[in-house]
Amino acid sequence: MGMTPQSLAALIPPDFTLGVATAAFQIEGAVAEDGRGPSGWDAFSQQEGHIVNGDRADIACDHYHRMPEDVELLHALGVDSYRFSLSWPRIQPDGRGQVNQAGIDFYDRLLDQLLERGISPMCTLYHWDTPLPLEQAGGWLNRETAYRLADFAGLAAEAFGDRVHRWVTINEPTTVALNGYALGIHAPGYPGLFEALPAAHHMILAHGLSIQALRSANVPGELGITNVYSPVVSARGGFANDLMVELFDILHNAMFSDPVLLGRYSDFNPLLTPFLHYLTDVSPEDLAIMSQPLDFYGFNYYFPTRIAPGSGPNTGPHAIPEGVPEHMLEDSPDLPFHITGWPQYDRTAFGWPIAPEYLAVALTEMANRYPGLPPVFITEGGASFPDVVVQDALTMEPHVADVNRINYLGDHLAAALNATAPGGPAESIDLRGYYVWTLMDNFEWAAGYSQRFGLVYVDFETQQRIPKSSYNWLQEITSLRAADT
Ligand code: NOJ
Repeated sequence: MGMTPQSLAALIPPDFTLGVATAAFQIEGAVAEDGRGPSGWDAFSQQEGHIVNGDRADIACDHYHRMPEDVELLHALGVDSYRFSLSWPRIQPDGRGQVNQAGIDFYDRLLDQLLERGISPMCTLYHWDTPLPLEQAGGWLNRETAYRLADFAGLAAEAFGDRVHRWVTINEPTTVALNGYALGIHAPGYPGLFEALPAAHHMILAHGLSIQALRSANVPGELGITNVYSPVVSARGGFANDLMVELFDILHNAMFSDPVLLGRYSDFNPLLTPFLHYLTDVSPEDLAIMSQPLDFYGFNYYFPTRIAPGSGPNTGPHAIPEGVPEHMLEDSPDLPFHITGWPQYDRTAFGWPIAPEYLAVALTEMANRYPGLPPVFITEGGASFPDVVVQDALTMEPHVADVNRINYLGDHLAAALNATAPGGPAESIDLRGYYVWTLMDNFEWAAGYSQRFGLVYVDFETQQRIPKSSYNWLQEITSLRAADT
């Protein structure tokens, strides 16, 4: 606690990348404009009861129309890099074939404006907005979708390859598989539990095929993926609990990082075979595609997970947000474990435990598990808090004093830098950067607009942007660093 901008700036190596991240569906709005087609998320959020308060992303931050203003916010913030995602249904509404030129034009303008201001673009190909026709044909349960994403990667390489410095193929396939296809609380709303495993496999396959497509297009940018990582711990001792920790660690972490980094799925205790059978039956050809060499490895860290065996109230993170209907809050009797709360930690507005020491654990586990890990970017980290706008007594300007977010970000950044510094437990990791989630408050998936993660407050009625204290804090760090060079 209590990292000042000065002490943080002194800790950050000169060539370290400080950035902020967003995703197309969460900020752009303009969902039916200039030829954009619907995505699975449009359809999912139109159905009653899926999103807190019935919120929709039709307008979101109206970024599609306000992009120049938002790029100015990035510029004034002084970040080295901006991570954004391409809206697949804006560029290729059917998910195959025909390209929508207006979609290409939008990202052309964005890239040019970033580069003019010296902001390095990191571009995510897929941040969850599957074009609806593909979703209707089975989405990630259909192997075909993997080949469609690879085609999209080729198309993006051709259009933007000259200007993108880093490519992320897929963002958090874990969350899509878990929330979208296992629990059904994200699009497409399929509560298939362990039947979601093929969706996970097809996403990792899509990652590998997309890397192949980008490589064969000879893009000059570096290539990687973004997985989310949550260290998993036991709520109590004992064999049954350890087994469930192993199961959750595979489902949440290893199943997505092992094939990418090791070219195989993890070995597991044979007692878990009834749940994980699918993973034992995968072809060597698929594994070879999934483990294409990468230039960097991206991971997101938000919180650790505490697991107990058997059914029980899901009071920890991944819990269904307040406001989502009752039937989704029931214990899932078919899951052999549940996620428990963690009383000793303060929590974010989402209920997530604030545990920066577990970011160090995450890095250490990664370092031990993957000795040949390429350079690493933490491609997201951040927190939602109940931000309140007040009028500044002196300037009379609206203001948000989000000290809790400053502490969260400072403590996590320091934990990552210390863990990977010489002598740290994860010193073998070449940590290259940290991206704050997120530039501005936006559409937080099933939680709609009820969870604010931004450095900039967005008044969704007026679309006014109000930089929070955390924005000024990060700005101070970037200007201290700039003064130093
Ligand atoms: C990770 C996801 O990539 C992002 O879309 C989401 O908003 C944040 N987590 C916060 O939940």
